[in-house]
Amino acid sequence: MTPTASGYGASGYGARITGVGRYVPERIMTNAELERMVDTNDEWIVERTGIHERRIAAPDETSSTLGARAGLAAIESAQIDPATIDLVIAATCTPDGMFPAVATRIQHAVGAGHAGAFDVNAACNGFMSALSTAVQFVAARTSQRALVVGTETMSRIVDWTDRGTCVLFGDGAGAVIVERAVEGEPGRIDALLLRSDGSQADLLWASGPCTPGEAAMGAMGQEARIVMDGRSVFRHAVNALVETSMEAVTNAGLTVDDIALCVPHQANRRIITAMADRVGLPMERVYVNVDRYGNTSSATIPIALAEAEADGRLKPGDRVLLAAFGGGLSWSAMVIEWAGVRASRAGIPTGILAARV
Ligand code: ACO
Repeated sequence: MTPTASGYGASGYGARITGVGRYVPERIMTNAELERMVDTNDEWIVERTGIHERRIAAPDETSSTLGARAGLAAIESAQIDPATIDLVIAATCTPDGMFPAVATRIQHAVGAGHAGAFDVNAACNGFMSALSTAVQFVAARTSQRALVVGTETMSRIVDWTDRGTCVLFGDGAGAVIVERAVEGEPGRIDALLLRSDGSQADLLWASGPCTPGEAAMGAMGQEARIVMDGRSVFRHAVNALVETSMEAVTNAGLTVDDIALCVPHQANRRIITAMADRVGLPMERVYVNVDRYGNTSSATIPIALAEAEADGRLKPGDRVLLAAFGGGLSWSAMVIEWAGVRASRAGIPTGILAARV
């Protein structure tokens, strides 16, 4: 598909979001609890990051179980039969294991027939990469209806002895349903931009079972841990988010004044306010929930979308700017016209489908 300014390919088909959902683990870890684990304090964490608390997955929860719950919430929100979903894409950098794909476990848990299912890993930029992929599948009519999930158990790869990183991350999942849009229907996705710079890969990375040599073992002997040069990542994040957001808005034929709500990746409140300031967006038009969840990597944007919808912050026809940044380094921006979901709830699966997980 060749994207056009209208968001529809030459075929006249595009894609739109028709359902949103989220699920976060019950356990809350406060800054006070972290004070008892590492040399830090609530004042430092709040001032430097804006984070007050984060959620931590229970021992029997995984990225696939969190993702399935978020997926069911999105299915309920779209009011669709899960058997009609023919594509499941899960964005995660904390899969249950090296394989199978988390997406296949989610496909089974939500009852998505024999939908094609695969994972996308672009660290905190994962959901935007997965959503962009789903949009191409749906607009090209290869897929009728896709479930896109961002789901993470960051607590499993955090080095809990490193105060520079352990205060930042949390667990959770968010999901959207992507369906076909015919030209003229509301909800078009106007501009997609995906970017990366692998020369900066070592600024932010996590070791894992396949990492060679000593680096494979974290400080606590776990198989994976996050390593980050926070100051450099901060600087790159603000610059990349600003440049890509402005480009996406321009490509959509809009100005920043047309953006009703910006839903950025939630890594650090200071990154979000710096970006908003430079783009020229007042904070009333920027969604922030990093205070309650910390950085849930690829889950931050779909969790925020589900909460913004439930809070009444998204109205049909609104132009919404999504922007993300993460390890890679990789970053992205997208402008969507909010189609309005069929049933807005708090994002927790409540009905008959909840019995599945
Ligand atoms: N508590 C108390 N003090 C701390 C803590 C802590 N938790 N962490 C660091 N410090 C100290 C440092 O040791 C340093 O002390 P020093 O001056 O004596 O050396 C001081 O605080 C300042 O440290 P900085 O790293 O300069 O602090 P900064 O203001 O840059 O904030 C932070 C650090 C919050 C990590 C910030 O750099 C940041 O948010 N960076 C971006 C992180 C990010 O967005 N990551 C994206 C992840 S996306 C993905 O793909 C996974």
